[in-house]
Amino acid sequence: MKLVIIWGSSRTGRKGGVVADWVKQKAGADGRFEVDFIDLRELNLPFFDEPISPFSMNSLDDYTHAEGRAWAERIAGSDGFIIVTPEYNHGPPGVLKNTLDWVGPPWKDKPVGLISYGGISGGTRAVEMLRSITIELGLINVAKAIHLPFFVKAFESGEQPSESTNENLKKMFDQIVRLRTALTKN
Ligand SMILES: Cc1cc2nc3c(=O)[nH]c(=O)nc-3n(C[C@H](O)[C@H](O)[C@H](O)COP(=O)(O)O)c2cc1C
Repeated sequence: MKLVIIWGSSRTGRKGGVVADWVKQKAGADGRFEVDFIDLRELNLPFFDEPISPFSMNSLDDYTHAEGRAWAERIAGSDGFIIVTPEYNHGPPGVLKNTLDWVGPPWKDKPVGLISYGGISGGTRAVEMLRSITIELGLINVAKAIHLPFFVKAFESGEQPSESTNENLKKMFDQIVRLRTALTKN
């Protein structure tokens, strides 16, 4: 299945690449996924600027911005998602919310796993906000999110994710496959 991994930081000097790389590497090695990794700095979407909500469009032809349509087509061709997010002021970065807002029905009935990193909270508040946003988009949440507290200190000192963290990621992959299989049954 086609798994899209979206990394939610686009700023100069961002630190979360170690987390995004870990998820990308594990998903690639898993054997069940064709991985499409989205770096929002490269995707570089403008602020949402369509005259109607993507959910009110009759088809992707209704996009007035080519980059919005191309992004929606990429989502339409995928089976599931993992969002890797930092926490900015107790929520997800605006650039990530903007990226989600550009697409409507192509999100629907597809599983999403949420992974956050941050300070003492490990980005839990960003994940809680992303839960309501992704539910509204029609995505099906994997129940267990993964939170990585004090990630910079840990990764920069060469510490690898613990065995239980790797197991939790494997469980997230399993759930994504299970949900997608169930949701595509006739
Ligand atoms: C604008 C801004 C707001 C932040 N707010 C929080 C926060 O609410 N909670 C937290 O744990 N860390 C917060 N931090 C610290 C981030 O966890 C840390 O900078 C992390 O490296 C951000 O991820 P990035 O480097 O991949 O963008 C904030 C950082 C920035 C730049």
